[in-house]
Amino acid sequence: MKALILVGGFGTRLRPLTFSCPKSIVEFANQPLVTHQIKALVDVGVTDIILAIGFQPKAMIEKIKQFEEEYKVRIICSQEVEPLGTGGPLRLAKEHLVKDNPEGLFFVLNSDVICDFPFKEMLAFHKNHQKEGTILLTKVQDPTKYGVVVSDSNGRIERFIEKPKQFISDRINAGIYLFNTSVIDRIPLEPHMLELNTFPTMAKEAQLYSMDLPGFWMDVGQPKDFVIGTTLILESIRTKNPSALSTGQNIIGNVLIDPTAKISPTAVIGPNVTIGPDCIVEEGARLKNVVMLKNSTVGAHSWVDNTIVGWDSKIGKWVRIEGLTVLGEDVKIKDELFINGCSVLPHKVISTSINEKGQILM
Ligand code: GTP
Repeated sequence: MKALILVGGFGTRLRPLTFSCPKSIVEFANQPLVTHQIKALVDVGVTDIILAIGFQPKAMIEKIKQFEEEYKVRIICSQEVEPLGTGGPLRLAKEHLVKDNPEGLFFVLNSDVICDFPFKEMLAFHKNHQKEGTILLTKVQDPTKYGVVVSDSNGRIERFIEKPKQFISDRINAGIYLFNTSVIDRIPLEPHMLELNTFPTMAKEAQLYSMDLPGFWMDVGQPKDFVIGTTLILESIRTKNPSALSTGQNIIGNVLIDPTAKISPTAVIGPNVTIGPDCIVEEGARLKNVVMLKNSTVGAHSWVDNTIVGWDSKIGKWVRIEGLTVLGEDVKIKDELFINGCSVLPHKVISTSINEKGQILM
């Protein structure tokens, strides 16, 4: 079977991390975001994955061999010269999707969504309704902020409604689809959004069905959701593979620590923390709701909450960081500072406290 993953977006909302690499290879729960999808696709029998790339192609192409070897899958890059949106890339990759595909089916995924990926159930549902497309839906608390989907009791999609003022549905598109290859011919070879163009037409023709996604879901394309998504995936690991989580007297709740990281036994870590390879956490430090990317350091007696620490960044001693702060790559925070809810661009040295939330430090 085949799948196409949309990895070509600019990822502007995940800046400053996406100044350094494409969103889909930012490590989420200590592995490149897109590999969560690759692994789940391989597990359901997908043998060929097309990565629809655009922005920052070099960084992605460099990773492909590693992903192919690690997940035992063939990966093909389909590269756009101009951004083709969420639909155009399918048309561009038509040859790859149709060739050697006797079942005539393929999955399509946004690269920034995480969940338990119920691909097996999706396949059974799709084969049962026998129409051209299936999209996964997830339930949200406040549907007025989203485009919602209205389906009948069999899952046949009736309508899409943008930001409804009154309650009509609390189910939104989860960014995961299963299509017959015939859907490709509905898409022109130009910038094109599936959600705005192809889906409403397919719904009118009764060719599009929806399946409710069981369990957790998050679009981790912005820092707040990246941190919340980390909490959700750690809880999922707790249920499915608890031995992957770290334990110890100084560990609280769900914590994932790469074996190469060096954590002082007097540092207190958790809940909801991931610590990547070669990271250092010094004595007496306190971390909760934190993502530490490769080779970053938290100095002695620092308090870090609700923060993403970018690759190679270094937080000094007796620092306090909170309020959804994102440090880009190679940022240095000097000793004894207070940093509250800001984004720090790569290669910046911070020498004074930032009390006011929402600042971007360049
Ligand atoms: P923002 O700039 O923060 O909105 O992120 P984004 O550019 O990734 O956009 P968005 O999160 O809406 O994209 C959803 C999915 O579609 C992501 O997996 C993107 O990588 C992908 N995507 C968006 N635009 C394009 C495009 O023009 N080409 C390709 N190949 N993928 C795209």
